[in-house]
Amino acid sequence: GSDAIFAVRLVDWQRRCGRRDLPWQGNDPYRVWLSEVMLQQTQVRTVLPYFARFVARFPTVEALAAAPLDEVLALWSGLGYYARARHLHAAARLWVARWPRSCPRGAQEWVQLPGVGRSTAAAIAAFVQGERVPILDGNVQRVLCRLFAVEEDPRAAATAGRLWDLAQSLLPHDSDDMPAYTQGMMDLGALVCTRARPRCDVCPVVDLCAAHCLGIAAELPRKRAR
Ligand code: ADE
Repeated sequence: GSDAIFAVRLVDWQRRCGRRDLPWQGNDPYRVWLSEVMLQQTQVRTVLPYFARFVARFPTVEALAAAPLDEVLALWSGLGYYARARHLHAAARLWVARWPRSCPRGAQEWVQLPGVGRSTAAAIAAFVQGERVPILDGNVQRVLCRLFAVEEDPRAAATAGRLWDLAQSLLPHDSDDMPAYTQGMMDLGALVCTRARPRCDVCPVVDLCAAHCLGIAAELPRKRAR
């Protein structure tokens, strides 16, 4: 059906036009987890030098777990949202205690680490293990509101539940496609389906987009009525 068409188009577009040179791409669970936590409230270009310094100083989760918290906080300095650094350190210690010489398996286990919410857990599991689970960060909420012409505030609990269901319904059938698909959703939101002036002219799924069809892509998602 049309749901399969969306995933096939997005995966093909990501492989041709998406970001493929990010230093955390690949299936090293430690690098993927670290990058996804850093990227939670911070843009890629800001994260890049921090990520490089972190993996140089702490090349493995064991090295991070063994470090004093002060050193982690010092290396994080400038990235902001310092609770993330505290959670990161606690998560590293939990990881090596609970999954020694291994790592959490699947989104259900990744979400047990401090600082890893539902969407971050799904991103890690999709990148590292090819698990068929959807992400739903702010960018993906906007993409889905447009694709399905959702007029309600995406931050409202009822809308979020519907968006998670829609996100699940769009997943590729083949788990081998999950890394490119997940990166494709992130790339589409960051590079094409932008908040201001979306680039519908270069969108790989423009013909599937309900908001574009209605001429209201740039108006969605709508601000909460007040
Ligand atoms: N934002 C969150 N995760 C990301 C990733 N893996 N690549 C680019 N931007 C992201």
